[in-house]
Amino acid sequence: MTQTDTRQLVEEIDRLKREKRAVILGHNYQIPEVQDIVDYLGDSLELSRIAAGTDAEVIVFCGVHFMAETAKLLSPEKTVLLPDKDAGCPMADMVDPEALRKFKQEHPGAPVVAYVNTSAATKAESDICCTSANAVEIVQSLDAEEVIFIPDHHLAGWVQEHTETRMIAWQGYCPTHIRISPQAISQAKDKYPDAAVIVHPETPAEVRKLADAVLSTGGMVRYARETDAKDIILGTEYGMAYRLQNENPDKTFYTIQAAVCPNMKKITLPKVAEALQKMQYPIEIPEDIAARARGTVERMLQASG
Ligand code: 13P
Ligand code: SF4
Repeated sequence: MTQTDTRQLVEEIDRLKREKRAVILGHNYQIPEVQDIVDYLGDSLELSRIAAGTDAEVIVFCGVHFMAETAKLLSPEKTVLLPDKDAGCPMADMVDPEALRKFKQEHPGAPVVAYVNTSAATKAESDICCTSANAVEIVQSLDAEEVIFIPDHHLAGWVQEHTETRMIAWQGYCPTHIRISPQAISQAKDKYPDAAVIVHPETPAEVRKLADAVLSTGGMVRYARETDAKDIILGTEYGMAYRLQNENPDKTFYTIQAAVCPNMKKITLPKVAEALQKMQYPIEIPEDIAARARGTVERMLQASG
């Protein structure tokens, strides 16, 4: 796309946004051109709070399917559009309601904590939701001896390091974050010995051990702002560096190039424009599922400070 094409597309998106009374939300891993046009950029927790509070009539969600679904759960009367209907999260697809029901029978009495990276149907079978920003806080809020944690066993492992509650972990994982190896982090540390290392809790334990901080993507934004370190190695999806570099021009961010989430990259400017023109692709959740899944997400928002 030429610069003129991009400028025209951005103007068209802006016009459509006003015409449809829409707000555009984007996750921190979105491609740069999309990050540049969103009204709000954030992590899963921040974006779900914005979705719950907006007075726009339409929410265009630049992210993956479970994020748009969560926005729809919290703003059921609004039209929520996902500009690419195939932008999913493979980790969210690693558990489904039927398999979860069976797992619950094997562990009777243990409450189910569902990472927000799950479908609405799976959330409907769960007791409370969490994100990477509040997982420890949510598990502790339950005051239970043991909890079933789905679907990410690396995040469950991270929570286990911070709580007495026994974590019964579903064996899912993020295909993007498991591509970050301890060797890659060590090599980056050898190259930039003064750098701070920050990683996402979806990374494996051997990677987290090498980090100065384990953070949600929103936590990374705050950390980068506040740290005195001038070099920062990022153990998360590489798109995160764009926002961090923009907001902290005096610091340098180093990414692990193998860590790409292809689904996050599916949203493009032409697809955002088309989403607003054709009002596609609206998120629909059957009401019996939505009512139960909404409770799971709302319990998280109530329990999380
Ligand atoms: P955050 O909530 O930390 O932004 O993470 C979402 C996600 O999908 C990470 O892979
Ligand atoms: Fe899912 Fe991993 Fe992509 Fe996040 S980075 S959306 S967990 S596949």
